[in-house]
Amino acid sequence: MESILKSPIRIQKSENSKIDQVDFDNLAFGSVFSDHMLVCDYKNGSWETPTIVPYGPLSLEPAAKIFHYGQSIFEGMKAYKDNDDIFLFRPLDNHKRFNISAKRMAIPEIPEEYFMEGLKTLLNLDKDWIPQKDGSAMYIRPFMFASGKGFHASPADEYKFLICLAPSGPYFAGKVKVLIEEKYSRSANGGVGYAKAGGNYAGQFYPTQLAKEKGYHQVIWTDDHKHENIEEAGAMNIFVRINDTLITGPTSDRILDGITRKSVLEIAKSEGIKTEVRNITVNELVDTAQQGSLKEMFGAGTAAVISPIATFGFRDTDYDLPEMEQSYAIDIKKRITDIQYNRANDPFGWRYKV
Ligand code: PLP
Ligand code: COI
Repeated sequence: MESILKSPIRIQKSENSKIDQVDFDNLAFGSVFSDHMLVCDYKNGSWETPTIVPYGPLSLEPAAKIFHYGQSIFEGMKAYKDNDDIFLFRPLDNHKRFNISAKRMAIPEIPEEYFMEGLKTLLNLDKDWIPQKDGSAMYIRPFMFASGKGFHASPADEYKFLICLAPSGPYFAGKVKVLIEEKYSRSANGGVGYAKAGGNYAGQFYPTQLAKEKGYHQVIWTDDHKHENIEEAGAMNIFVRINDTLITGPTSDRILDGITRKSVLEIAKSEGIKTEVRNITVNELVDTAQQGSLKEMFGAGTAAVISPIATFGFRDTDYDLPEMEQSYAIDIKKRITDIQYNRANDPFGWRYKV
């Protein structure tokens, strides 16, 4: 197939690797960055050839529209490495969702080849940075924002697409405590909740800060209309197990269509677990917790992987989930991470060798 890239991706190598300064046994999430990053500019109506340069600061005009109107989107992916190869998990789905987000935020879409060739070239260059320890991975952050300038409240004429790599440990340390939110909303019908737009996350920080002051890690959002149905958490989709049925809410305008979420549903079905995609009311959650039929709750996401929830709070009461011997969360986490780390067969065809 003929390449649509205007010319080969240029690489400017960093002169001093920082890899020796990194403690790969004690990695936090998303706080150290590999030696290189990919940068690609959109100018005069088209994307230029991406370049790979040493990781470092960008130079932007103060009038760049990202600062004023928040035109910005991102993705979250992971790369895994065994002794021979580098693997991604369903990366073409991330590319598709990136462009869905781009369209909603009036940002020009990025062609698949720019995204995938850019990512693969960058990963091969910084492959020594990919952690091999179980529970750690190379977190990949593709993002795109308005670099074009002007105070007119309209889309910019120039954009930047970047990919940065952060060798990372787990997103949460230990079990997670969540608060069901009734006052604030993350998203609304017709809004941008389904896009991975930067502003969706900024809007969550204040309510999440309030929840953290009360000892919770994350907020579980409810529908903006009546706050009756649980939707998703700040960085993950939510699953509940009532008796032996695994349930998650339907996707909509208001929820991120998570790649982990849909993989969990497929794995559960393949294991013979009964699944339902339907609204889960807060009342049902509280009732089943009180009756003892609520067996498990967990979050699912690229950063969060599968994160068991130990406690949920609603109004002024905390509800503790039981410790299950036969846990769906633990079982499904093993299945999905065995595929991701190339420790098991991949009957679904999700693993992507770089
Ligand atoms: N929901 C939100 C708001 C997220 O930020 C994420 C993380 O990407 C998810 C859900 C999970 O999506 P995925 O499994 O595609 O990472
Ligand atoms: C991810 O899971 O990749 C995300 O984007 C969540 C992010 C808030 C860390």
